[in-house]
Amino acid sequence: MTECKQFAVDLWVVEGPNVRDLGVVFTTRMIIARLSDGSLWVDSPVSVQADTRRSVTELGPVKYLVAATPRHVWRLAEWHSQFPDAQLWVPKPSPITLKRGNLKFTGILTDATPPAWAEDFEQVPFRGNPLIEEVVFLHRKSRTVILDDLIQNHPALKDRPLRNILFKLAGVAHPKGGVPLDIRLSFIHRHPARQSLDKLLSWDFDKLIIAHGVCIETNAKSFVERAFQWLM
Ligand SMILES: [Fe+2]
Repeated sequence: MTECKQFAVDLWVVEGPNVRDLGVVFTTRMIIARLSDGSLWVDSPVSVQADTRRSVTELGPVKYLVAATPRHVWRLAEWHSQFPDAQLWVPKPSPITLKRGNLKFTGILTDATPPAWAEDFEQVPFRGNPLIEEVVFLHRKSRTVILDDLIQNHPALKDRPLRNILFKLAGVAHPKGGVPLDIRLSFIHRHPARQSLDKLLSWDFDKLIIAHGVCIETNAKSFVERAFQWLM
């Protein structure tokens, strides 16, 4: 069984199976928050076995399934089939949205945090990139920023030297992870991007959960500042 691991107060992570994108292997992670009303908010759900799913439901009822980046919309389908009453929230559609099936979405994530989780989170769409407008969250109680793809921090894999070199060149190799080169290059509107970064850095946070690679458990703001140095 994959462990449902507590990351901070009312915040858990579950490691998912590896996925391939353009032939490159990525580790995956989902993030679970227990909201003030006791219900669960799940970002970037991953495929898990029934006993792991049960351990999640022991934390509370799954009410919100979220994909914070257009590249993770496909991940909602499996959890929607298990929790058909849960709301589905997605970012603004983009030319590279990856989705599966004909899911009916509850809403698009914007600057206005939905009342359902406004007590627990702040959120900001990271603008300036016409391909990917990822929505970044602050979990206030634990002072944790949650993001999916914008920052990656991949540990080297023993049997994959080419992948390791590729990640180093892309600026996403642990412990010096950052914004992947392809995402950096597609930020063509720098002004709105800087405004989004200013908003993110104005938040009071110390920890960072990411969907791909090693999370940051302390002093995360300086990690984020370094990751976005190219934008400053
Ligand atoms: Fe991803």
